Amino acid sequence: MPFIIAIDGPAASGKGTIARALAERLGFHHLDTGLLYRATGAKGGDPVAAARDLGPADLARPDLRSSDAGQAASRVAAIPEVRAALVDFQRRFARQEPGAVLDGRDIGTVICPDAQVKLYVTASDQVRAARRAAELGADPAEMLAQLRDRDRRDSERATAPLKPADDAVILDTTSLGIEAAIAAALAEVDRVLRP
Ligand code: CDP
Ligand code: CDP
Repeated sequence: MPFIIAIDGPAASGKGTIARALAERLGFHHLDTGLLYRATGAKGGDPVAAARDLGPADLARPDLRSSDAGQAASRVAAIPEVRAALVDFQRRFARQEPGAVLDGRDIGTVICPDAQVKLYVTASDQVRAARRAAELGADPAEMLAQLRDRDRRDSERATAPLKPADDAVILDTTSLGIEAAIAAALAEVDRVLRP
């Protein structure tokens, strides 16, 4: 049975960085599920049709990392039919040998509730805003307001809200550098692989 690592958490918590590093070091496949919602929002038109018709070109758009694309993503992500349209692709991706790392908001709770490792990556609002502001060359105060707005929408929606799975390990990266955060995540994977 393939090994599945589910990584969830709020915006700019560092989940993507950790997911990429784990996949690279373990030789696993990696899916940034946020890209599916960003591409759905960016496509415009009927969001349910957009989610159903997503193709490689949609996922390769250069504008998907912007703040506007993040806000648009969280609006379409609250629509249950949009989420439903993306479930099969994510579950198929997760079942690849020898294993897969998926990062998002609902991987441990909805997409892969049987994942062998579940991490919920978080950090203080201020630290997350500062990281994303540095990345995008944006104003930290404006970024803080935007991230809080998006986290609130993601946590309060009725379908697949952002929250840790009951059996997730919480990884707070507020005062962890990237390498220390990756080491903590790898230690958790090791704990499960070699009990
Ligand atoms: O995927 P997510 O939005 O949760 O965050 P990310 O894209 O992995 O990380 C957001 C930014 O924070 C990136 O520029 C990372 O390099 C940085 N980061 C950091 O400074 N310290 C960490 N422990 C993790 C990420
Ligand atoms: O990297 P960052 O955390 O800023 O955002 P992202 O992971 O690219 O996700 C963008 C938006 O897509 C989130 O704010 C959520 O509304 C939505 N999303 C979701 O609902 N479920 C997922 N599994 C992944 C993302």
